[in-house]
Amino acid sequence: MQFDEFKDLVKNTRTTRRFKKDIKIEPKELEEVIDIARVTSSAMNKQPLKYLIVTKEELVKNLATTCKWASHLTQWTQSEDEQPSAFIVVLNDKSIDGFAMVDCGITLNSIMLGLKIKGYASSPLASIDKELCKTLFSLESNLEPILGIAVGIEDETVKIVEVQEDTNYYRDEDDNHCVPKRDLNQIIVGKF
Ligand SMILES: Cc1cc2nc3c(=O)[nH]c(=O)nc-3n(C[C@H](O)[C@H](O)[C@H](O)COP(=O)(O)O)c2cc1C
Repeated sequence: MQFDEFKDLVKNTRTTRRFKKDIKIEPKELEEVIDIARVTSSAMNKQPLKYLIVTKEELVKNLATTCKWASHLTQWTQSEDEQPSAFIVVLNDKSIDGFAMVDCGITLNSIMLGLKIKGYASSPLASIDKELCKTLFSLESNLEPILGIAVGIEDETVKIVEVQEDTNYYRDEDDNHCVPKRDLNQIIVGKF
């Protein structure tokens, strides 16, 4: 893969919150991306993260309905028709003394990119109902849910735009989801 192709992949891998309905995702597909996450960097190589794969319709619906989607879009709530097809839930195994949150960011990126290559869109969801996960999946007390990742086929266009007044995402007049990203010269604060 060339650098420009990788850059395009990253640019096109955006948080997606409106998904096509009636799309089935096989657990095996999600297992394959978790197998990529399995070999990513981990602080002190402790590997405290564990995963749940959720593809059963009722369970997916339950998780999707209880997440908080797009807090900046006050006029929009996700309808049942826009819900994802599956979830990956990232868990911190508290019996392993690692750096779960940092590892989780690394794993999230690998999973989102892997899903994109497979033709799926995704959304990280820190707002996933963690207590609900514990109950629904009868989690052992050492397993703490830390992040949901909704997965499906996108039914919206997401564009990177320049930052104007703030970094809040918004929908434009054509209903594109616009994500302002700071310019390179705003984030590189020194070259020494
Ligand atoms: C750790 C993390 C947690 C997030 N949690 C939520 C969430 O609970 N609900 C939501 O709608 N979006 C959530 N997002 C998505 C962010 O809003 C999104 O990354 C941001 O708007 C930038 O869009 P982009 O991912 O396309 O660059 C989360 C993103 C990250 C990285």
